Amino acid sequence: MMAPFPHSEIAVAAKAAPLIDPFQRAITYLRVSVTDRCDFRCVYCMSEHMAFLPKAEVLSLEELDRLCSAFVAKGVRKLRLTGGEPLVRRGIMTLVQSLSRHLKSGALDELTLTTNGSQLTKYAAELKACGVERINVSVDTLDPDKFRAITRWGELGKVMAGIDAAQAAGLKVKINAVALKGVNEDELADMVTWANGRGMDLTLIEVMPLGDVDAARVDQYLPLSMVRARLAERFTLDDIDYRTGGPARYARVKETGGKLGFITPMTHNFCESCNRVRITCTGTLFMCLGQEDAADLRSPLRTSESDEPLYAAIERAIARKPKGHDFVIDRRSHRPAVGRHMSVTGG
Ligand SMILES: C[S@@+](CC[C@H](N)C(=O)[O-])C[C@H]1O[C@@H](n2cnc3c(N)ncnc32)[C@H](O)[C@@H]1O
Ligand code: SF4
Repeated sequence: MMAPFPHSEIAVAAKAAPLIDPFQRAITYLRVSVTDRCDFRCVYCMSEHMAFLPKAEVLSLEELDRLCSAFVAKGVRKLRLTGGEPLVRRGIMTLVQSLSRHLKSGALDELTLTTNGSQLTKYAAELKACGVERINVSVDTLDPDKFRAITRWGELGKVMAGIDAAQAAGLKVKINAVALKGVNEDELADMVTWANGRGMDLTLIEVMPLGDVDAARVDQYLPLSMVRARLAERFTLDDIDYRTGGPARYARVKETGGKLGFITPMTHNFCESCNRVRITCTGTLFMCLGQEDAADLRSPLRTSESDEPLYAAIERAIARKPKGHDFVIDRRSHRPAVGRHMSVTGG
């Protein structure tokens, strides 16, 4: 088969020095936002009238491929495509197919994505054929009206059909749900039963103060410590050591036999084991989700055909990865602690 991009015939050979940050954490996990656009407008993620980036600022699929491959050459073992909605990016499967060469060569352990599920009926089989084994699908409610209210533009039926298609294609599905005060909090136990009953793990996420959205964060914020206490009235939750390389802490649900994860950036500090960095669709590298410091990788990518300036820029950036974040929802001003939206850095 022809390589989709001219440079992608070149298999990467792992460079001698892997990426180690100043706190001796090896950077082995890269999350890539392939677009800032989305077919939904979730209330905690975007405002209804989002201004999206001009096309010229967004990396082409070929540039994204080169950038990801540079990280793989520097020792990244796991790549997650996200967004915005990764599956609404035109031609996205060309990128997935091209990146899958690193799975075949053994340079990469996992290629995965986080999706809202709206396009899965179309792409599930192809993803599986490219070597994707697991995906995360975000579903915050099982009630179609609530789903419409949360996502503003989404249709639950389409997402459910997408999950069916993913499972039928042999993809392992994990469900992500953001816990929202007064919105889905009374439904979370049913979601555990539903997800685990279909062989899917469920991970609950606390609302993070990223970007200005129309609603006040303090109204949305529901501490997972409270959610967990309530779920423990219905289920027996046994803490387990299971880690996916992410910040979730897992419990085994005795009654369902499935797993329940908790991502609690506001109440729990998961920074000490952080192995990840994120790039936006414009090639900006964020060393920490909760900090503003970033490095521009688009310039070295666009100004040189050699990857050496890119490697050097990546190394300089990792050398200043901070120890941790400091998210705070400011109760007086209601301003987010970090100005960019989750759809920019990709969650
Ligand atoms: C930004 S989305 C991108 C991928 C895809 N569109 C999706 O929804 O899965 C990734 C994850 O971030 C979550 N998310 C978005 N904004 C958030 C916020 N402010 N706090 C916590 N989680 C958020 C979403 O629910 C989703 O699970
Ligand atoms: S959470 Fe995902 S689906 Fe919802 S608006 Fe953000 S990017 Fe789109």
